[in-house]
Amino acid sequence: MPTAGLTNDRESELSTGGLSPQTFDLLRDLIRSESGITLGDAKRELLCSRLGRRVRELGLSGYDDYYHYLLCEDRDGVELQQMVNCITTTKTDFFRENHHFDFLRDQAFRQWRANATETSNYKLRIWSAACSRGHEPYSVAITLLEHFGPRACWDIKILATDINTEVLNFAERGIYPTEEVKCLPREVRDRHFMKGTGQYARTCRVRDELQHLIAFRQVNVTASKFPFQGCFDAIFCRNLMIYFDETQQRQLVARLSERLRPGGYLFLGHSEHQTWLANYVESLGHTIYRKRGS
Ligand SMILES: C[S@@+](CC[C@H](N)C(=O)[O-])C[C@H]1O[C@@H](n2cnc3c(N)ncnc32)[C@H](O)[C@@H]1O
Repeated sequence: MPTAGLTNDRESELSTGGLSPQTFDLLRDLIRSESGITLGDAKRELLCSRLGRRVRELGLSGYDDYYHYLLCEDRDGVELQQMVNCITTTKTDFFRENHHFDFLRDQAFRQWRANATETSNYKLRIWSAACSRGHEPYSVAITLLEHFGPRACWDIKILATDINTEVLNFAERGIYPTEEVKCLPREVRDRHFMKGTGQYARTCRVRDELQHLIAFRQVNVTASKFPFQGCFDAIFCRNLMIYFDETQQRQLVARLSERLRPGGYLFLGHSEHQTWLANYVESLGHTIYRKRGS
């Protein structure tokens, strides 16, 4: 059945049939060099379903034209960013892989309190390196506020980054459909979110105390340099590495471990365990890792 608004001819131009093997290779090379995301041979359909919309919106004749547009007409890189926004998979949830937040609360906080008492350094820096629509950094912030309280003497900052500018804008606004917030216990929801009214009915907005803990920035983790200094007590880089090949994964873990303080924690996604990770960090089980040293 033709897609609404498209003729059969137009539809087939934008289906996998309209994507030549050569243009598929050119586009996936470009995507890899821009984002690290590696698309295997089986991802032709995915690429078409994600980029077909851009081809249509730009009024181009097909993927060959789109590739040419990216190379020759997109001087300010706006379309390259659009392509990255379309190609990234951004699925996320509040308190996804809940055991990581249990670990923060039950073990990491105890360790950090003990260190702070010993050194009088009450500073905590946490990085959510592929934060998507913000559920992950806000879950970290909720866990921190629930534990330390809003007027704690701690100096706490969460850096939340992603390559995708669309999800970052969404995350920074902090307004979520009520459906997505429903999974939180009612009292937690009431403490950290405000119910929307009028045009915002059926949405909840994160409260200022939560938002003030977080700085949102665009960072491509495969770029040659991270655009900030300093090390972190914990890095969340969950469900990103699965889109990279092993070379990119190893480079990423090496660079992330350089940005962890000794004893700092690295949280990866549930399917991102690899034996070679032991070269960089020590495994604590359940895709939680620790940089050696104290
Ligand atoms: C599946 S989401 C994971 C979100 C969250 N960490 C979680 O586990 O729920 C993957 C995120 O990685 C981001 N991403 C992909 N390539 C990236 C890159 N090179 N640098 C930074 N973020 C990237 C995507 O934009 C997307 O938001």
